Amino acid sequence: MRVLLVGSGGREHALACALARSPLLERLDAAPGNPGIATLARCHPVPVSDLEGMTRLAQELAVDLVVVGPEAPLVSGLADRLSEAGIGVFGPSASAARIEGSKAFAKSVMEAAGVPTARFAVCDTVAAAHAAIAEAGGAVVVKADGLAAGKGVVVCSSTEEAHAAVAAALVDDRFGASGRRVLIEERLEGEEVSLLALCDGEHVIPLAPARDYKRVGDGDTGPNTGGMGSISPVPGVDSDMVADIVARVHRPVVNELARRGAPYRGCLYAGLILTAEGPKVIEFNARFGDPETQVILPRTGGDLLALLARAATGTLAGCEVEPAEPACVSVVVAARGYPDAPEVGDPIRGIGDAEEIEGVTVFHAGTAASADGVQTAGGRVVNVTAVGPDFHTARRRAYLGVDAIRIAGAHHRSDIGLAAQNAEHVHV
Ligand code: AMP
Ligand code: GLY
Repeated sequence: MRVLLVGSGGREHALACALARSPLLERLDAAPGNPGIATLARCHPVPVSDLEGMTRLAQELAVDLVVVGPEAPLVSGLADRLSEAGIGVFGPSASAARIEGSKAFAKSVMEAAGVPTARFAVCDTVAAAHAAIAEAGGAVVVKADGLAAGKGVVVCSSTEEAHAAVAAALVDDRFGASGRRVLIEERLEGEEVSLLALCDGEHVIPLAPARDYKRVGDGDTGPNTGGMGSISPVPGVDSDMVADIVARVHRPVVNELARRGAPYRGCLYAGLILTAEGPKVIEFNARFGDPETQVILPRTGGDLLALLARAATGTLAGCEVEPAEPACVSVVVAARGYPDAPEVGDPIRGIGDAEEIEGVTVFHAGTAASADGVQTAGGRVVNVTAVGPDFHTARRRAYLGVDAIRIAGAHHRSDIGLAAQNAEHVHV
């Protein structure tokens, strides 16, 4: 098969590595790609926002399947355009991608399908938002309705904080059109887990559970980021719990979207909090998670391309994902100044040294080619990822890899996978 991969981050580099292992793959192209992806695919300088350019490229390359990484082109209708042009695509239509594109829409689907989620109110005015905050007693989460590149969520501990978050979205227009409607959501307590599943409009095949680390600092301190690391599996989330979540969350949502005439084909990402009353959904994404994909795919055996092609053609029935490596840990090396004002253009050294370490792969996330090797080109620069027979080993390998990477002023969290490793020790 000839495949075009859309995107340019660590997630797409991990996808490229998994696709490259498929015996079905004849040729891999990517747009726009990055220097890591370029070792596996031919890269084309078409931005992900150029839906027409991307469709034309897919036609020119005569690809059999387009695999779409990021949400924005899906929400804007890239999958619809490709389907109209007769090109196979892994990724939902615009109407199905609304599950990520509008939090109010996601809530209405969950309500109709009986999916457990945090209680909420959808508010278009400050007065309505203040009333909802008062009713919830101040401990709320304020969320911009639309896409806000991971920045539209404020977890509040007091009424004052919640009022400030509402003012930022509704009055100061901090999130543009995405934030002119907000959700006031009950603040849930518990461990978080991300459960991604491949869907073909009808059938649902779960991938391994994962967890990302959203705060910039050790011990979950400091501002939220796009993700500072990830682990898979998640201690305590066994195969029975995965089956239970799929039955309560993914299947009802896929059925409800099909009933509404928007069958979901692609990766359905459920972000959940494991509360005392059971798992509850805090968000859906219409795509593979980043940086979860970087730890899920290295643990996935079998042929990913075959599964994505089956999802795209509605033929996932009876498929399963084969488990491979027992544990995977991925640490983000971030540029100086991330997340507020990341500096770019610094040389990156040591990627080759890191990859000499057993089990280690370095996924490029924010890198660019330069005359003198690769340089930083984004806040999250690389995902140093390691597999192993247990968390202890995977974690040791990943941090040896991090130590090998040299970027001036870079920073990383030092506690990725630490709790999972400690939980492992309790059991042995
Ligand atoms: P999101 O941008 O939707 O991924 O949310 C960012 C983070 O906010 C999540 O990873 C959670 O840690 C937190 N969060 C979102 N919704 C809730 C909620 N209802 N209760 C508690 N924490 C939440
Ligand atoms: N890791 C969260 C996301 O992909 O949105």
